[in-house]
Amino acid sequence: MISNSRFKEPLVEQAVNYLKQGKLVAFPTETVYGLGADAKNIDAIKRLYKAKGRPEGHPVIVHLSDINQLPQWTNSNLISKSAEILAKSFWPGPLTLILPKTNNVLLEITGGQNSVGIRIPRHPIAQALLKAFGSGLAAPSANKFGKLSTTSAKDVSAEFGHEIAMVLDGGFCDVGIESTIVDCTQENIKILRPGIISITEITQALANYNLENTILSADTVGTTKAPGNLASHYAPQTPTIVLPVDRLLERLNLEENSGKKIAVLALSPLNIGQTHLIVAPNDAHKYARALYSNLRELDKLKADLILVEEVPHNEMWAGIVDRLTRASYVVQ
Ligand code: TXA
Ligand code: MG
Repeated sequence: MISNSRFKEPLVEQAVNYLKQGKLVAFPTETVYGLGADAKNIDAIKRLYKAKGRPEGHPVIVHLSDINQLPQWTNSNLISKSAEILAKSFWPGPLTLILPKTNNVLLEITGGQNSVGIRIPRHPIAQALLKAFGSGLAAPSANKFGKLSTTSAKDVSAEFGHEIAMVLDGGFCDVGIESTIVDCTQENIKILRPGIISITEITQALANYNLENTILSADTVGTTKAPGNLASHYAPQTPTIVLPVDRLLERLNLEENSGKKIAVLALSPLNIGQTHLIVAPNDAHKYARALYSNLRELDKLKADLILVEEVPHNEMWAGIVDRLTRASYVVQ
């Protein structure tokens, strides 16, 4: 359950004041923390890209409190039936839809494209903030570009310190990995980033309305518009390798015998003595919830290498497999 106990109205008011002044405020969503800026204020957007270290041309998601705000951002004449159904089925929630934008949406937040990423999060503090703000918040995940997303206010503060005006503390994020992104700008929808909402759920939601749609996955898309789809992303500072458990143990032995300090993120309860070990829950939802805080904790140990035990390769784990692959990708 999402901790609701830290919700405090004066803090939300304060956050809105900062946002109206063009400052940056981090806030919790059910997926990961977002770093929010007024999506209609170009100076605020510049500040956001600078704080994140994000290259221009990489679009950010606009967060809204409810679908009544959609017409300000998306071109309702061009919204497909499947986009409508997905919005109805999964919002508020961990889903982002790429939709045709209206002319007044700043090109600076869309990476110069004619589409805009929209998400309506369900976290009560995100909802309270967005309602009180009354407009869209551009909010990438609250981490430096290419690094691990943050799932607690403490991790956001460690990442940004005084570079941002405020962090609204909503405890730990419930989902733990970023939203599923679905590109709805073409007839065939495309999954640009897998997340906790699976392809089966998306197919089912469309089938409930008798809509059969070809769904292309990120793999079939090839070059995509999402920086989350860069091969190396969501990465710890420490080199990270994913291996099946037998090969992980072999590698561990080898590295430790040559004097290396190794940290391990396992699924199996391994008996490996002094090695820095976190055993993560063997359940996709629980594993996802703890993934970034576990990797951040292992990263802090400043080991020579993080070894991650391979997770099941099935649909339930698709979002996790994707993030682990990117976390462990070595730039050639
Ligand atoms: O769960 C989430 O989605 C979190 C929370 C804070 O909402 N946000 C998040 O934002 O992960 P970010 O910026 O780290 O990742 C957003 C992804 C990027 O890969 C970006 O390229 C893609 O969304 N995106 C945004 N607008 C897009 C557009 N118009 N076309 C294609 N991709 C877009
Ligand atoms: Mg991100």
